[in-house]
Amino acid sequence: MTAPEAPAGLWPARLHHLRRDSTEPETLARFYGELLGDRVEPLPGSQWLVQGHGRRLVVGRGAAGAVPYFALALRDAAQLAAYAAALARLGVAREPSPSPLFAPGAFAVADPDGRRIVFGLPVLDSENEKTTPARLQHFVCASTRVPEMLAFYRDTLGACESDRVLENGDIAAAFLRSDPEHHSFATFRAPESRADHHSYETGSWNAIRDWGDHMAKLRIPLWWGPGRHGPGNNLFFMIEDPEGHKVEFSAELELMTQEAPFRTWPHEQRTLNLWGSAWMRS
Ligand SMILES: [Fe+2]
Repeated sequence: MTAPEAPAGLWPARLHHLRRDSTEPETLARFYGELLGDRVEPLPGSQWLVQGHGRRLVVGRGAAGAVPYFALALRDAAQLAAYAAALARLGVAREPSPSPLFAPGAFAVADPDGRRIVFGLPVLDSENEKTTPARLQHFVCASTRVPEMLAFYRDTLGACESDRVLENGDIAAAFLRSDPEHHSFATFRAPESRADHHSYETGSWNAIRDWGDHMAKLRIPLWWGPGRHGPGNNLFFMIEDPEGHKVEFSAELELMTQEAPFRTWPHEQRTLNLWGSAWMRS
């Protein structure tokens, strides 16, 4: 009996956009527009696009706090076609892309929690370069089934495991990368499966300071941090959007080679914040 074919071809892939849902999508889109200093424009189907320098957010009508999909951009059409073929050989069901921001040929798959991951190529990557740079970099979900999520993202989708957090042998969190940046996706053990946060990579500690000052002008209090994560070693702070979804501003995220093995961390506050107290999902 031969081993199943290893999933191939996800590397390199970068988080390009995600969809945040709300019962009041325009209100939420305008919150993000002000938060980031970004342009807000309507899209078909009661959706809104919030777009700035290195970031795009689709806001749609749906359950408050939800992120029904996130979308990874592959390098080119050849990589996308090869990746689709590799998933087909593994028997992974592919669905039409739900995203308005990717060109024809994009497709989606469902993870064990039912969230969609969209793979594709941007239609027109126009950006608003007059806005402050902060590139959308990773998405994180809380899950009741972290071992299944890790297995799916690593063994089926082909992401590389960077770090795992262990408690008495159980996996409390897993971080996975799809290019040299430490994680483009992570999942935390929690009592319910839900979206957790997304993160903007700002580029420097001084940029973190400037974004903190911007939050002060907006009277948005920092919810956690500033601090430094153990896994990823990045500087960060987080704020909450009006529906409790967290938004992270990060800098100096660790880089790793494709071949580097995963490391393990104990399930304790210091792991999630080397500088102090932490948000423990479980
Ligand atoms: Fe994060």
